[in-house]
Amino acid sequence: MGKINHLDESLNIEGKRALLRVDFNVPTNNGSITETSRIEKVLPIIKFLIKKKAKIIIISHLGRPKGKVVPGLTLKPIAKKLSSYINQNVTFLDKCIGSNIIEKSKELPNGKILLLENLRFCKEEELNSETFAKELSKNGDIYINEAFSCSHRAHASVCEITKHIKSYAGKMLFEEVNIIKMLTSNAKKPVTCIIGGSKISTKIGILTNLIKKIDNIVIVGALANNFIKHRGYSIGKSIFEENKDNLITDIIKHSEINNCNLIFPVDVIVSKNHSSKGQLKNLNKIDNTDLILDIGEKTIENIYKIIDVSKTVLWNGPPGYFEAKNFSAGSIKIAKKITENTKNKSLISIAGGGDTAAAIKMSGCTEGFTYISTAGGAFLELLEGKALPGIKSLETNE
Ligand code: 3PG
Repeated sequence: MGKINHLDESLNIEGKRALLRVDFNVPTNNGSITETSRIEKVLPIIKFLIKKKAKIIIISHLGRPKGKVVPGLTLKPIAKKLSSYINQNVTFLDKCIGSNIIEKSKELPNGKILLLENLRFCKEEELNSETFAKELSKNGDIYINEAFSCSHRAHASVCEITKHIKSYAGKMLFEEVNIIKMLTSNAKKPVTCIIGGSKISTKIGILTNLIKKIDNIVIVGALANNFIKHRGYSIGKSIFEENKDNLITDIIKHSEINNCNLIFPVDVIVSKNHSSKGQLKNLNKIDNTDLILDIGEKTIENIYKIIDVSKTVLWNGPPGYFEAKNFSAGSIKIAKKITENTKNKSLISIAGGGDTAAAIKMSGCTEGFTYISTAGGAFLELLEGKALPGIKSLETNE
């Protein structure tokens, strides 16, 4: 990492408008928040800014509304939740740019908080638009990026904005990047990476580079569906990414060249919907109406064996739909096994991602890992050795 501007604790910011980019992309169900780790994570910086008597203007995205206003993805419920953590009312504004927002940010009493609406309701956010970033920057006097988990995105609120306002890395972003780099740059071998979750498009491209660095890659979750389908099995109604066959052929070929062992599910738990009971099936028994929602016993046994021979385990993405009890066994068993080996076999265990952190918390294993990052895609891209756009833009902003 080059020189990065980070928020000096002694900086006098009393009365200054601190535009704070956080990641409030929390799991929700019908508009209600189901997991709060990402909110709890930014409480230290918010409390710090309150103590410093800054005016705090928080910005974030939630979900992937693709530039449209999607009522189920409003940040309004988060304002309420945040208020309960810090014992003060957080004012929610239903836009993120415009003269009204600038005015409200200036009128805000010192130590008070505004939360602006979901940045991704504006299509310019994901386009890294200069005009949008300039407008957004007018809501603050200084900008702080405390959203490591979004820093792999070249989006206006993490990238372009730093050209228009004095910008800093939050303390946690800085620490998180350093810890992950320290733990992974000279990782003890064999290194195993378990990759699952539902963001197939983000993760499938990353595999090509990871293959060169990792000894074993365990592919589970929705990402595995593409590979199961590629091997000629039906995946029924399960989600998968279209037109990825060439990439998969390439990944498999390169794993052989680089001596990287790829491990896939050999059995799965299927169901007709997300709320019914699951049924254990071998891959050749999956029918056209099945949804794959977790990994099966034999797969779990195979993953145990790999964990047992590993010195470092990196985990991003749960193997199943852990939010429902019927499909949480794979996630719980992996979390417990990693915890056990971290304690008894000096395994270095690092987990990343909002859902993975939630699955670990649900399994009661939060204290059992060497380190848990709430960043998913950013975590993987850092492991790949990529320069993250949101971090790079903080390095050059002098
Ligand atoms: C995450 O959940 O990893 C971050 O909030 C980024 O979300 P995205 O993958 O939708 O860009």
